[in-house]
Amino acid sequence: MLADPRFSARLDLAGSAIRRNAPDAGPPGAFLFMDPPDHTRCRKPLTGRFTVRRMRLLEPRIAETVEATLTAMERGGPPADLVTQFALPVASQVICALLGVPYAGHEAFERQSLDMVDPTKDEAERAAAGEAMFQMLHALVRHKRAEPADDLLSGLTGSDLDDVELTGIAMVLLFAGHETSANMLALGTFALLRHPDQLAALRAGESDVDDVDGAVEELLRHLSIVQYEVNRAALADVEVAGETISAGESVLVSLPLANRDGDRFPDPDELDLTRATGGHLAFGHGVHQCLGQQLARIELRLGCTTLLRRFPDLRLAIPAEEVPLRTGRGIYGVDRLPVAW
Ligand code: HEM
Repeated sequence: MLADPRFSARLDLAGSAIRRNAPDAGPPGAFLFMDPPDHTRCRKPLTGRFTVRRMRLLEPRIAETVEATLTAMERGGPPADLVTQFALPVASQVICALLGVPYAGHEAFERQSLDMVDPTKDEAERAAAGEAMFQMLHALVRHKRAEPADDLLSGLTGSDLDDVELTGIAMVLLFAGHETSANMLALGTFALLRHPDQLAALRAGESDVDDVDGAVEELLRHLSIVQYEVNRAALADVEVAGETISAGESVLVSLPLANRDGDRFPDPDELDLTRATGGHLAFGHGVHQCLGQQLARIELRLGCTTLLRRFPDLRLAIPAEEVPLRTGRGIYGVDRLPVAW
């Protein structure tokens, strides 16, 4: 379904219950909710900026951010909340630096990102949060056009996209770039702390878990944090696995379910850092496959390895059952992760 052009990602056709009520199809430029050729036109100027090679160049800076954030966390604790003192600041600083968004405004955009998709808020509140983020980024895009700096948004002002489209693109990147990585860093740490044997093997960097990149892929597969966000609508009657989906019907494509398919991954519910994870769908598939996946992998690898190296006795500061899981949202995570060392 994700590779089939008979399914549309347009928000007005395919949105989740929250989004289907949105007044329009999302801001211009928000290519996550577009189909080709519009999608192609907006994504194309970005693809060369997210290659493995370009992302590798960011590694030293990401490593510095991780170290500095952990130093601050160490000074303030124990205990510490791994979400607000590590995962969120690392993810937000990395995407801010890449885009050229001032990190000083992080509290506002982090709150707006949560509110925009909060199922407990009413439509007006969600729209107001989206509008506030749009206005902040629109002003920033105009500023970049007038005074370009050495960052991604300034670079995009050289493309044929207009300011409103650039703002929509910036919104997608800022939202997708911090919420996902932050939740993955925190939830990934929680998963490791609940599997002490595998954590020990990973720390040792030898025995059976000697491949950190492979461990990161398994955490991505096992946790599949993008839960309810992948929505599509059939543009024609389409038969999928013996079921007919009629034109106009919308479907939720469950990445967690695909990633826990026992035919593909034996004992799929088990976290096994040594397993073969090829073909997992944590980053989606098809034209909308995650643009930031190489960046996310670097953040996760550096984040996890540095955290484990600097805090050899890291442990949960509350019982695992009391860790507040963020189950009601499109992106799975933990609200707080109190840790000690
Ligand atoms: C562990 C972290 C991440 C996960 C699990 C993740 C997952 C995903 C998934 C599943 C999609 C496809 C959605 C769909 O088909 O409807 C997606 C799209 C996207 N992601 Fe990520 N993502 C992560 C991190 C990032 C980062 C760090 C960025 C930063 C730039 C990013 C930018 C995007 C963009 C721009 C899209 C839209 C692509 C398109 O529509 O063409 N993601 N992501």
